[in-house]
Amino acid sequence: MSVFNDKKIEKIGILTSGGDGPGMNAAVRAVVRCSLNQGLAVDGIMRGYAGLLKEEIIPLGHRSVSNIINRGGTILKTARSKEFGTPEGKKKAVQILKQHKIDCLIVIGGDGSYRGATELFEVHGFPTIGLPGTIDNDLYGTDQTIGCHTAVNTALEAIDKIRDTAHSMERVFIIEVMGNKSGYIAAEVALGAGAEEVIVPERKFDFEAMCRHIRKGNDRGKISWMVVVAEGAGKAHEIASTVTTMTGLETRFVVLGHVQRGGVPSGRDRILATRLGAAAVNLVIRGEFGKAVGILQDEINIIDLKNATHKEFKHLDEFRNLVKILT
Ligand code: F6P
Repeated sequence: MSVFNDKKIEKIGILTSGGDGPGMNAAVRAVVRCSLNQGLAVDGIMRGYAGLLKEEIIPLGHRSVSNIINRGGTILKTARSKEFGTPEGKKKAVQILKQHKIDCLIVIGGDGSYRGATELFEVHGFPTIGLPGTIDNDLYGTDQTIGCHTAVNTALEAIDKIRDTAHSMERVFIIEVMGNKSGYIAAEVALGAGAEEVIVPERKFDFEAMCRHIRKGNDRGKISWMVVVAEGAGKAHEIASTVTTMTGLETRFVVLGHVQRGGVPSGRDRILATRLGAAAVNLVIRGEFGKAVGILQDEINIIDLKNATHKEFKHLDEFRNLVKILT
């Protein structure tokens, strides 16, 4: 029997928070089934921290997570909550959790959700565990976050289609991808799509040099370009108009947007989510809280939740250089 601060852990609360990502359902399923197998009860909290403050809490049984491993989105729904962001909001959240006899909370989400879970643990002493669920892959302590792999594949599928029209109509395309303040998705997508340029928030970008490069290429007979921009680095429509002005070439832009958040989770995301869900329940069994689970070099990796936000994308420069070299 797991114990935290002399209190027996008998019931786990689970919520998904912030932007949804394909694979979150697989994580919920793993947490529910592993917990029940260990004799722990599970309550699902609907709509993230917002739903917690409204006491939208339902018991989850074995069957409530049937047939969801292959479904995008999250059966628990998700939201962003201003009220939870306040100290009063967090105090109220802890009161509600205790009223419902929830002994610890597993939070599936990104950096904002992790910060909330950290404060519940560090400031209010409520046992929490973070499970990395965001397409952005911007958390520390894990090579991948749940949803990123599928999102990259979705973006690649779209770009493959854009490439057909770009080449046929001899145009420059600026394609904006998600990622919040991170260029991870953009760099992976650019490399996988064989794009000519990638613009990320983590590095300065020389627009004039890019336009000169496009012009020169055009002089040599090149007729189409794919430029991937991370949403945190600039707006595709503004970059497109700069490129038109500076090169005189016909330029279009596409904002891939929320399409990247949906769809059937890839096998990799389902497996990642399942391993991480099981690892989170193992932490509960061991009575270890204030932790974030991740996978580094294919091994389960546990770090303090408070250290899990902010991540420098390790292969960023390698990926950017490759995009340039392979043009
Ligand atoms: O964090 C996931 C994410 O999809 C980011 O890539 C994006 O910036 C943000 O969420 C969009 O949020 P919303 O769906 O609230 O507009």
